[in-house]
Amino acid sequence: MQTIVQKINEQSLREAARLIAAGQVVAFPTETVYGLGANALDSEAVHRIYQAKGRPNDNPMIVHVADRETAQQLSIFTPAAQTLADAYWPGPLTMVLYKTPMVPDVVTAGLDSVGLRMPNHEDALRFLRACALPVAAPSANWSGRPSPTTAQHVLEDMDGRIPMVLDGGSTPIGVESTVLDLTGAIPVVLRPGAITPEQIALLLGACDVAESILRPMRDEEPALSPGMRHRHYAPRARLTLVDGSPKSVAMAICAAADAHPGAQILAMEQHMPLYHGRPVHSLGSDAREAAHRLYYLLREMDNEGVNRIFCETLPADGLGLAVMNRLARAAEFDILRVG
Ligand code: TXA
Ligand code: MG
Repeated sequence: MQTIVQKINEQSLREAARLIAAGQVVAFPTETVYGLGANALDSEAVHRIYQAKGRPNDNPMIVHVADRETAQQLSIFTPAAQTLADAYWPGPLTMVLYKTPMVPDVVTAGLDSVGLRMPNHEDALRFLRACALPVAAPSANWSGRPSPTTAQHVLEDMDGRIPMVLDGGSTPIGVESTVLDLTGAIPVVLRPGAITPEQIALLLGACDVAESILRPMRDEEPALSPGMRHRHYAPRARLTLVDGSPKSVAMAICAAADAHPGAQILAMEQHMPLYHGRPVHSLGSDAREAAHRLYYLLREMDNEGVNRIFCETLPADGLGLAVMNRLARAAEFDILRVG
């Protein structure tokens, strides 16, 4: 199969909508990362996503909608969901709600709930409106690779596997949406993203955070968000996070990097001078910039064949919680604590 990459315009959107209606898979940009989309109401089309991604079939997909009415047809859209949609849709918030029979089992991996989101990205919304269908879409990476934040990243993983990539440039946020379970008495963040637990608690009165967000999941734990079970991102390099005061962290990382020829360093912009002369990449000056750069940098290092990475930790609040959640998984929880 030949994969065409097209800038987004009337003609490419018509072609994308035609492919979706025909049960094919199309990659498209959102404000978080690129998605690999197919008609959510067509089991065979959704099955093609699993095939393109090489993804286990027990991981449910997010259904993307262009309007709230569609979400209301696909789920039991509770008052809490209405409140959150008023505040954060379109936006990087996926709400897990009880599903209606319209949603095929292959989308939810057999669960009785469905994850729904209206992306806050003009090209994504134009694509969804052109399709005039709910679009099931996981991140558009080959299973186990970092989520793609550019059309080029999608092509690296999907060339020859899907017919079309819609190119909307680099995705503004850079890490995936917040996944919020609204099926219980208290909302629970299953995966942190740009909409924070604090923002949700402010509107709903309370919000829990799944314990597994910053530590490994025990085997006997119920799979609240089955995706968290899979080794989410496996860099080719071994990654170690170093946590502590900036000076101690930099000293520990410099010593470790000197002992590992070829090792590379990820550090915040303001700490760059502490690593003088060493191969260090800047994560930017705050969590927002770190989220935007993280997957790009990890892919770049993978492509360069780097085999050892040392990275500073960030404060795990706001968007920093999302960045730390992805980093801790990429490091397989190899976190060194220094003074
Ligand atoms: O920002 C995003 O969310 C991107 C863009 C493309 O929208 N999508 C994305 O999809 O990250 P994916 O498949 O890589 O991650 C979806 C996450 C997984 O952790 C999955 O387990 C969880 O959402 N999820 C989906 N449906 C669920 C459900 N019914 N119950 C619990 N977790 C669910
Ligand atoms: Mg993913």
